[in-house]
Amino acid sequence: MANSLTNVLEDTEGCLALLEVLAENSFDSILITDASAEGKIIYVNEAFKKLTGHDPASVIGNTPRILQGPGTDAKVIERLADALKSGGTFEGKAINYKKDGTPFIMYWRVLPIKIVKKIVAWVAIQREGSVI
Ligand SMILES: Cc1cc2nc3c(=O)[nH]c(=O)nc-3n(C[C@H](O)[C@H](O)[C@H](O)COP(=O)(O)O)c2cc1C
Repeated sequence: MANSLTNVLEDTEGCLALLEVLAENSFDSILITDASAEGKIIYVNEAFKKLTGHDPASVIGNTPRILQGPGTDAKVIERLADALKSGGTFEGKAINYKKDGTPFIMYWRVLPIKIVKKIVAWVAIQREGSVI
């Protein structure tokens, strides 16, 4: 009988190892926040650093608002805030800013991570450009 993913990965350690390989080698930027009201960053991958210029260690504990600036569309952010409040998902684009201040179009999705229906974190998949 063919092996299944769960058989091969065995346990939590195996699942974490898979997630680490996926996230660290993803072409897309990945950003994870905790589920607190401030939405503090608990993880970003290498592609986030490439996209934004921010060093992963320097953004942990901060919020993704560090990417926003005067050109960021407030309506898009309002839509995202509503999705966070209702425990839903978000997909959209807005002007964000790299560490050196260069504006770019961020296209991103935000999704809740749930454990037994409780949201424990939020994950964003991000890339530059207006088309996915
Ligand atoms: C997982 C996650 C990723 C986010 N990524 C971005 C992002 O890439 N760019 C951005 O402008 N805002 C991003 N945000 C939105 C801000 O962190 C914040 O939630 C939003 O601005 C709404 O809060 P506020 O109304 O207090 O500003 C992200 C939020 C979450 C939860």
